[in-house]
Amino acid sequence: MNLGRMCSRLFARPPGLLLLLLLLTALAPAVAFADQPFSFDTTPGKLPKTVVPRHYTIRLEPDLEKFITRGSMTVDVDVRQPVAEIVLNALDLEVTRASVIEDRETALAISPDPEKQLVTLKLPAPIGPGHYRVALEFTGHLTEHAQGLFYVRYAAPSGKKIMLATQMEPADARRMFPCWDEPAFRATYDLTVVVPQKHLAVSNMPVESETNLPNGLKEVKFMRTPPMASYLVVLVSGELEELKGEADGVKIRVITTEGKREQARYALEVTEKVLPYYDRYFGIRYPLPKLDQIAIPGGFDGAMENWGGITYNESMLLFDPQTSSLQTKRDIFVTVSHEMAHQWFGNLVTMAWWDNLWLNEGFASWMENKATDHFNPDWEMWLTAGLEKSGVMSEDARKTTHPVQSPVDNESEADDSFDNITYIKGQAFLQMLENFLGEKQFQKGIHRYLAAHEYSNTTTADLWDALEKSSGKSVAAMSAGWTEQSGLPVVMVKSDCTGGRQVVTLTQERFTVCDPDAQPLSWTIPVAWFDTARPASARYVVLQNTPLTINLPDCADAIKLNAGDFGYYHVSYEPAWYQKVKITGLPPADQLNLLSDTWAMVEAGRASSTNYLALAEALQAAKTYAVWSHVLSVLELIDSLEQNQPGRANFQQYARRLLQPQWQRLGWSPRPAEPVGDALLRGRILGTLGQFADPAVVAEARARFDQFLARPETLPADLRPSVLNIVGRYSDKKTYEELHELARTAKGTEERQMDYRALAGALDPALAQTTLDLSLTDETVPQEASDLVAQVASDGEQTELAWRFTQQHIKELLAKVDSFDRDDYVPSILGSCSDAARADELKKFAASVSEDSVAKADETAEDILFKAALKQRELPSIDRWVAASAQTPDAARR
Ligand code: BES
Ligand code: ZN
Repeated sequence: MNLGRMCSRLFARPPGLLLLLLLLTALAPAVAFADQPFSFDTTPGKLPKTVVPRHYTIRLEPDLEKFITRGSMTVDVDVRQPVAEIVLNALDLEVTRASVIEDRETALAISPDPEKQLVTLKLPAPIGPGHYRVALEFTGHLTEHAQGLFYVRYAAPSGKKIMLATQMEPADARRMFPCWDEPAFRATYDLTVVVPQKHLAVSNMPVESETNLPNGLKEVKFMRTPPMASYLVVLVSGELEELKGEADGVKIRVITTEGKREQARYALEVTEKVLPYYDRYFGIRYPLPKLDQIAIPGGFDGAMENWGGITYNESMLLFDPQTSSLQTKRDIFVTVSHEMAHQWFGNLVTMAWWDNLWLNEGFASWMENKATDHFNPDWEMWLTAGLEKSGVMSEDARKTTHPVQSPVDNESEADDSFDNITYIKGQAFLQMLENFLGEKQFQKGIHRYLAAHEYSNTTTADLWDALEKSSGKSVAAMSAGWTEQSGLPVVMVKSDCTGGRQVVTLTQERFTVCDPDAQPLSWTIPVAWFDTARPASARYVVLQNTPLTINLPDCADAIKLNAGDFGYYHVSYEPAWYQKVKITGLPPADQLNLLSDTWAMVEAGRASSTNYLALAEALQAAKTYAVWSHVLSVLELIDSLEQNQPGRANFQQYARRLLQPQWQRLGWSPRPAEPVGDALLRGRILGTLGQFADPAVVAEARARFDQFLARPETLPADLRPSVLNIVGRYSDKKTYEELHELARTAKGTEERQMDYRALAGALDPALAQTTLDLSLTDETVPQEASDLVAQVASDGEQTELAWRFTQQHIKELLAKVDSFDRDDYVPSILGSCSDAARADELKKFAASVSEDSVAKADETAEDILFKAALKQRELPSIDRWVAASAQTPDAARR
């Protein structure tokens, strides 16, 4: 398939067809289906709704020698209609005994269905509606995979250790105990566990009692939880340390493994700030008596909002002022704010089913920025969110996109819903909505929603209803197009001047990249605009699928749309507009927005990349981190397209020249009290200059690395990732060995990941092979070992080598990957590839490995074809631009 040609059809579309499409769009109903308010009985899911659990009493005895868990439990259930069987979830569990108790105990026949992850308990005779107690005994299996109850091995100062942790979402509580493992089945939990006496055991609620047992064991009983979804149950148990605090009467702990308590200070400080902030923002106090933030040294990547006991990979929670960078500090604030937002949005009020996952994740992703920005106004949080938004808009323009709300039929589809569309499109839409409704109205609506549905479940319709009531605006009608349709619009701006007056006409169409047959759609777009002569005063118009006009008094004026970059749509201006508007005169958010729109037009084949480069050159003196970050990402993308192309060296030289003044301004040494943006930008530009082989930067990075080996404190934490990456990229055997030694002896997860990443970036094929071989060994955490292969392909530019290696060793590699990431593993190896021939290879190989990875492979294959087309279309003009600019002195070009 020749995608280059396919893409070009996009702008060669005949006007007649366009008119017809517009007409069809106008006639078609705005959305295919409308979401209904929550009702338990119509909520999707596999489990029958005839028997509903109300309360679980669970006792678990994990055995860390046999790697099994013996369990017993009773569940108080409501039988709502006569039934002859009780169906619930169980996976990799042997249910050994089951009975139902009313006045007397009746044994149940147990019939497991592993395929459907269900167990059916058959009654000798049907029972009528009423309250019953189901009693079960079962045995579960402990593995190292973060699914259900799992164990983590790690090294502590006093020796090798093992601890227990859980990861349930979306559907793995059923591996720890039999349960109604769908989010609408809320119940209360009394959990009791038997663990070694030297362990600290943590669950959702505080400990009610601890009793010592023989053999160095103890029984820990936790207090009863509020009614909640099974995916929020947590248990962590190990030789742990705690750092204690308090906020708004809630007991807070940050829990770490041995020797890391000091690194918990920052997370404690963040929690103590954010909890009262949320109490106030939501207008509902945090409902549990305690909140634990738990650092797990491996086993899973990420963070999980279990109610009252949030788990984090320790790299996302622990901060060491000596070695952790500002970026890490920011990430911790963001992650903690995200998971804490879920305590209300997700835990107190839970989406009914996984098709509404965006209610959880979109909202928490939005709130993480709101909270982080509130406490750290100089961190450019919303600008950084703007960068992420521009990335997801690019995904959303492709054929492989899907609506924010899509049907979810089974557990594997629930897993797949945790993607950028759910998280980032979700958050970007909320950002647009908040700005349109007004901050206070929006907050009131959120309070109303939480208060109306606390300890219950919801759908998107319930959120719109609350926001509609608080704002008086038709939120549901406006929002449906954004959450129930795929894709996004582009607003076209046309200006006419007659008799000295300017009429600006706005129209919309669906914005696509390489998807000429996309269904035409339209949206209700709240368009904020301002006159570029007066950036302070933004106004809203609501654009539907009919043209809308704005009158301006003067023909010299120009309006900019998407003021403040709050909107989720692109804008296309006429060439004359660029003559009137100077990007340097716009506020940073609008600069970023213009860069993002311009690059999107390049991706869609509606503009040339030289339009983008012209803007980047104009912004050479800009000081905003996020603005630069966009430019650097585009330059890095172009550089990756230039791989193995004749123009690469010249392009790199051009890019280095573009970055030079900024690098001169920032220099190697952090200045006291400098803006946070400068500190972030220094590391970022340094990394890019290193990638572009700047000789002075590479030499200095090497010198600083040598110094660092002798005296680690000489290298500022913010420069460390970039310096290591540069040294790793150009390393010889000796340097590689030095990095390897650092990696092997790293004390924490953040450090270890950084060191391995640096050595995986080595360009030397022999060293790349050494890294690939390393990925099969046990020297590092399994998930991180398996990640090395994709890093060799992208950072090390050894696609061929890494791809062949993956094909040869796929079984061993997949065995190391967390189940959640498994379907993305094969596609991730070719994530940075732009060689069209690989697209089919990828699809074939992925299909031969597992059905589950086909969807992700299709997405990546499309992206490879897109990049191949972009390369073919854009490199010639980029190379000409670069050549012309080499002949022009810098001063003349600006
Ligand atoms: N609820 C998720 C954790 C999760 C993710 C469970 C995927 C199951 C599947 C949690 O709130 C989350 O989004 N964690 C993120 C980090 C966060 C700061 C965006 C993660 O784990 O990557
Ligand atoms: Zn989340």
